[in-house]
Amino acid sequence: MLIREAAAEDWPQIWPFWHRIVAAAETYAWDPDTTEEAARELWMNPAKRVYVAEDETGAVVGSAYLTPNYGGPAARIANAGFMVDPGRGGRGIGRALAEHILTEAAAQGYRGMVFNAVVETNPAVRLWQSLGFTVLGTVPDAFEHPRHGLVGLNIMYKSFL
Ligand SMILES: CC(C)(COP(=O)(O)OP(=O)(O)OC[C@H]1O[C@@H](n2cnc3c(N)ncnc32)[C@H](O)[C@@H]1OP(=O)(O)O)[C@@H](O)C(=O)NCCC(=O)NCCS
Repeated sequence: MLIREAAAEDWPQIWPFWHRIVAAAETYAWDPDTTEEAARELWMNPAKRVYVAEDETGAVVGSAYLTPNYGGPAARIANAGFMVDPGRGGRGIGRALAEHILTEAAAQGYRGMVFNAVVETNPAVRLWQSLGFTVLGTVPDAFEHPRHGLVGLNIMYKSFL
């Protein structure tokens, strides 16, 4: 698997799984009805570094972004987002993407990374913990999960120092 920076031409391959994940409304605090144009502006935002994972055929099977979470004196704390094609989940792509983005973030001078809203029922919580993130706190009952009802949103953090 190859992980590389995304190009604008990658978007048509990202959109189908982006849409599937956001429309499911189980993991991201984004409008499940987000249009393709709004999604492209959100994910392929020039202020973010965007990455894709390619399988051995060159197909894009996952994507991630890296961006400052805050501005000014706190701009060296990063934020990132991850999506893997649900049809290709559970095969190590998400972990490989996350390890790559953590390495990139440290190399780019970030001092740590924060996730602002990890749905507490998301299996990704365990993935992030295994990579050294801790739950700083949980906003209770913040997320209306379609199967679990009201669940909390974890703020998760990892220091690079
Ligand atoms: C989270 C996500 C990026 C993980 O990608 P992935 O390629 O499926 O993950 P991996 O195959 O690398 O698995 C990583 C670990 O998480 C666990 N895991 C991943 N998805 C899981 C699931 N649905 N159920 C249970 N465990 C899961 C795996 O057991 C694995 O553990 P291991 O490495 O110790 O074996 C992917 O599931 C996804 O895009 N989810 C929807 C969007 C999302 O939740 N993004 C993160 C928001 S915080």
